[in-house]
Amino acid sequence: MTGGAKRFEGRSAIITGASRGIGLGIAQRIVDEGGRVCITARNDEALQEAVVHLGGPEVAIGVAGKGDDPEHQDEAIAKTIEAFGSVDHLVNNTGINPVYGRMIDIDLAAAHKIFAVNVLSALAWTQKVFHTWMDAHGGTVVNLASVAGIKPAPGIGFYGASKAMLIHVTEELAVELGPKVRVNAVAPAVVKTKFATALYEGREDEVSSAYPMKRLGVPEDIASVVAFLLSDESGWLTGQNIVVDGGLTLTGGV
Ligand SMILES: NC(=O)c1ccc[n+]([C@@H]2O[C@H](COP(=O)([O-])OP(=O)(O)OC[C@H]3O[C@@H](n4cnc5c(N)ncnc54)[C@H](OP(=O)(O)O)[C@@H]3O)[C@@H](O)[C@H]2O)c1
Repeated sequence: MTGGAKRFEGRSAIITGASRGIGLGIAQRIVDEGGRVCITARNDEALQEAVVHLGGPEVAIGVAGKGDDPEHQDEAIAKTIEAFGSVDHLVNNTGINPVYGRMIDIDLAAAHKIFAVNVLSALAWTQKVFHTWMDAHGGTVVNLASVAGIKPAPGIGFYGASKAMLIHVTEELAVELGPKVRVNAVAPAVVKTKFATALYEGREDEVSSAYPMKRLGVPEDIASVVAFLLSDESGWLTGQNIVVDGGLTLTGGV
């Protein structure tokens, strides 16, 4: 936390896909800075453990469901307003990549699912939070993109394409929703979470040697930037995609 600042006092946030990893790191950061959070994930048990970890029902609630399920979205938004009285911030953090290999051969059913979860559900959550709360009261939205969305990433090509679209959706929404609502994105390189395990497990030294910062990311590296983008400190910043990658893309890598 920066200098004891409490940037989220009196504010509440929904963070999707936040029972672990980057989403939980973001939730922790918001709670540490005085805010209250609604976190989501599919597995309710892990989600409720995360709620306890964050400090219990005074500061956090967990609503289990699939990120792309419209009823789950409605339930989470209603429960957040019931518990905390507002939805000042939305973090569309849920993202999936169930396939690895050449995009030319991708199973199209898997591609549809990636598109539904990574892009359409981020748009749906934003639509609903905007019409329920932010249109009247203002707010901020951050979408979790990826460096795979800014240049080709062999093996995870369609995932990268979905993140490229998410970056574009971020820009379009920023134009449409300003000045009431700011919408930004963050594009990490490899962050040490369950999601990314296959990209570094057993060869972390080798993988991290390509990074100018000579280490892989941890959830806190992303959470601090997301907190900045959500907070009033970034009040003149909208429609941007902040690359948080330990310098990796400077070297030509993704
Ligand atoms: N880690 C990286 O290297 C990296 C790099 C660039 C971008 N990102 C992006 O960062 C975001 C977070 O990734 P992470 O690395 O923190 O992943 P993670 O550690 O695997 O955590 C994913 C979280 O989302 C939940 N989740 C997964 N699928 C879901 C679904 N369909 N509906 C609702 N919740 C779901 C998971 O819980 P359940 O399994 O219980 O649902 C979990 O809480 C993603 O958008 C990812 O694309 C990650």
